[in-house]
Amino acid sequence: MGHHHEKHIAVILAAGKGTRFRSKKPKVVHKILGKPMIHYVSLAVRWSNPDRMIYVVGHEKQQVIKAINCLNCVYVEQEEQLGTGHAVATAKPYWENFDGIVLIVNGDLPLVEGETLKNAVKYMEALMKFEGAPAEGGQDFRNEDVAGVVITTKVPNPLGYGRVVKDKNHKIIKIVEEKDATYQEQQIDEINTGIYLFYAPYLNQVIDRLENNNAQKEYYLTDVIELLNQMGKDVYALMVPDYTQFIGVNDRWDLAKAENILRMKYLQFWSYAGATFHNPETVYIEFDVELSPDVEIFQGVSLKGKTSIGEDTVIEENCSVINSKIGKNVKILKGSIIEDSVIEDNSVIGPYARIRNNSVIKENAQIGNFVEVKNSVVGENTAAKHLAYLGDAQIGKNVNIGAGTITCNYDGFKKHKTVIKDKAFIGSDTMLVAPVTIGEEAITGSGSVITKDIPDKALGIERSQLRIIENYADKRRKNDD
Ligand code: UD1
Ligand code: CA
Repeated sequence: MGHHHEKHIAVILAAGKGTRFRSKKPKVVHKILGKPMIHYVSLAVRWSNPDRMIYVVGHEKQQVIKAINCLNCVYVEQEEQLGTGHAVATAKPYWENFDGIVLIVNGDLPLVEGETLKNAVKYMEALMKFEGAPAEGGQDFRNEDVAGVVITTKVPNPLGYGRVVKDKNHKIIKIVEEKDATYQEQQIDEINTGIYLFYAPYLNQVIDRLENNNAQKEYYLTDVIELLNQMGKDVYALMVPDYTQFIGVNDRWDLAKAENILRMKYLQFWSYAGATFHNPETVYIEFDVELSPDVEIFQGVSLKGKTSIGEDTVIEENCSVINSKIGKNVKILKGSIIEDSVIEDNSVIGPYARIRNNSVIKENAQIGNFVEVKNSVVGENTAAKHLAYLGDAQIGKNVNIGAGTITCNYDGFKKHKTVIKDKAFIGSDTMLVAPVTIGEEAITGSGSVITKDIPDKALGIERSQLRIIENYADKRRKNDD
């Protein structure tokens, strides 16, 4: 065959229910670092640059297809999940006349690296050529004995995996499932990772001949090896030392373990990219998060969704940032929560602040302890440093929001807007009954309930006369006798 054999089709098996998850949802849509498990498998497979990607789906297939979210992929339905061999047989029409390699990957291997799959394809391509074959008229000679490659690895505890029985030349004699293995076979620590490469025409000759006379009454894909051997064709083991890439996620505890491994890999990546982590074991960063150099992150921080953190920003202990953009040199102090919002450069947030619903905190602003900001814009250099609720507010520059200020934005039916213009001074414990506007450089007296607009530079004060009753303590004591 000519150059066209350097092509491969990828098949990802994702039809299973994942019974051991005990879940309403299909296994592969369960999330790792904020993305469905299948997302990571897809990324790795795509890295190997296949000509076509085929997914075998079945159980709750609409949910699975949605999680895969690929428009130019092929989805094949396996109506009944009769085993991995049956799943591959279902997709066979898509490579019926294909003269190349079929890469098959179990859908529950979220830790596999793209580079591993790429190398496996190269390895298979190399095996398929005669060693040192002269390129005669641009043609390589095919080694017609080579039928496939299985990626294998050695694990400390092979329990639950298929064991690889090999001869001396790395040729696989068979793969035995845990449940079908003899005591001797169970001692083998080299396992089937669930990643295979087959020369399509040979695979097609055997895939429909599988039987299900085994412990699980399933059509095992792994049984094609014995059938290929019977045809005089060889399947080789490609042993990859790093077994952590091949954790098959069969239950939620595997999911947790896989997430931890991936989490540490990403933290290491960001650390090499210039981020400092304190106690990284406790830091949770999702797939879509982006960090900049000289970011410093303390323990218990959780960064989720599409979040980005600018240079020199510090995030202290136990903060959560979700779908938010944090600027440069921002300080997010202990225990703060920021969701769906933007924090501009040089601002200081927290400790214990909550900012949410499309809020924008402009440059150099300060949002202090126990301040909640919802769907509001807080202008440059503005400070709300203690105990406030700012909802549906448009707040200008250089404003001071006194402790205990509340925008009374909800009248029981509708939400209303509060506008506070530049340089206004809101006295402590002001109730701003929206809709209301506080003018530029206007002032509100502490404890006032503001129900009317305050013009620029005016003072709005609403207070009843203070009464002083002398010797009240003594009178009160008498009344009690
Ligand atoms: C499989 C291998 C085992 C290997 C292990 C690696 C077989 C028979 N066994 O076992 O040798 O060590 O993976 O993790 O292949 N699927 C379908 N349709 C089906 C059955 C399964 O699409 O009818 C999909 C599942 O959704 C899953 C993948 O195939 O993504 C693997 O199936 P699973 O049941 O998890 O196989 P294991 O028992 O883990
Ligand atoms: Ca599995």
